[in-house]
Amino acid sequence: MVPEWLRIGSRADLETGRVRRVIFGRQAVALFVWNGAVCAIGDECPHRGTSLAHGDVSDDGYVACSQHGWEYSLTTGCGRQAFEGRVPTFLVREHSGEIFIADRPARRDAVSNDAALPQTPDAMPTETTSVWNPDQYERFRHERSLPFFDLLSLVEKRPAMRVVDLGCGTGELTRRLHRTLGAQETLGIDNSETMLARSADVAGDGLRFDRDDIAKFPGDRGTFDVVFTNAALQWLPDHTTLFARLRTALAPGGQLAVQMPTNYDHPSHTVAADVAAEEPFRSALGGYVRADDVVLAPEAYASLLFKLGFARQHVRLQVYAHSLDDRTQVIEWVRGTLLTDYEKRLPSDLFASFLARYRERLLPQLEDTRPYFYPFKRVLMWAAL
Ligand code: FES
Repeated sequence: MVPEWLRIGSRADLETGRVRRVIFGRQAVALFVWNGAVCAIGDECPHRGTSLAHGDVSDDGYVACSQHGWEYSLTTGCGRQAFEGRVPTFLVREHSGEIFIADRPARRDAVSNDAALPQTPDAMPTETTSVWNPDQYERFRHERSLPFFDLLSLVEKRPAMRVVDLGCGTGELTRRLHRTLGAQETLGIDNSETMLARSADVAGDGLRFDRDDIAKFPGDRGTFDVVFTNAALQWLPDHTTLFARLRTALAPGGQLAVQMPTNYDHPSHTVAADVAAEEPFRSALGGYVRADDVVLAPEAYASLLFKLGFARQHVRLQVYAHSLDDRTQVIEWVRGTLLTDYEKRLPSDLFASFLARYRERLLPQLEDTRPYFYPFKRVLMWAAL
């Protein structure tokens, strides 16, 4: 279908920032001048619906959402990371110093730029279109990333901060942390060589990575304005001592931000412990069973933060609602997290047997519905000195 063209103002209006977004019908469009060209994209971040119109634009043409830093290409609308999905793009034309945009999102397969410009250019159509429709894989990744962005949104942005990310994994989200906070320096620490091998691609511009055991942090690294750790501290014991040590790594006024899963009472976790206690796994594991009491209750962390001298705090238990295709996907979910603890302790053939037994015992305990609803509890906390 041929689009109508809507006049949105002059190029000068855009270049001076006088016009940044337009609304027609129920469609909001964010406008940017990048690389000399006018770009128009849907003005609604797929994460939580924040306006993109006032986000920072990177040199390579991505706008970062001001809320949690997800980034979208100004030319294609695609997220920089697959889990960020996509926002619609709109065709733009310039005529006699005036800027016009098409009244509906551009189709990627059949872009038409030939429609005649309107004689009466202020026509206001009402059609609304949404093109974001991520496939299941993207949604899965998206759901896994939500706690990171929820945690990041708790951190207060201050000038020229020194930040550390404990258990940074591949570093992609550490880069997002670094950019969203506008940090002067961010250090990512992880003990996985495989994970850190990929971090080289995102290092630079004040962001660097160290391979080390986060249990030894801070060592001789000095103090930080933010100690950030997403889904990592649950692997370390004795949180009373651990948090006291993290406290010593904070500069005056420093912030601590921690997120940990605490879903130990769900069958996905209790069954793993039950199987580990069965033979032949019990002997092969030397009696090891993943402890279910490492992560404390939210109120215990609140008390601990108070005792450690934090002046302000926010501690909460949050249930993430995951809609999986069916109950077997719970096994895939847990395989990438909890079960890795058993995988690294068992020979591969025995771990295959462990997995088969886990599946045999777990599935009867889960409702056989499609989709399968998997509630997942996490504790999120932020505190400032
Ligand atoms: S609302 Fe945009 S990144 Fe969260």
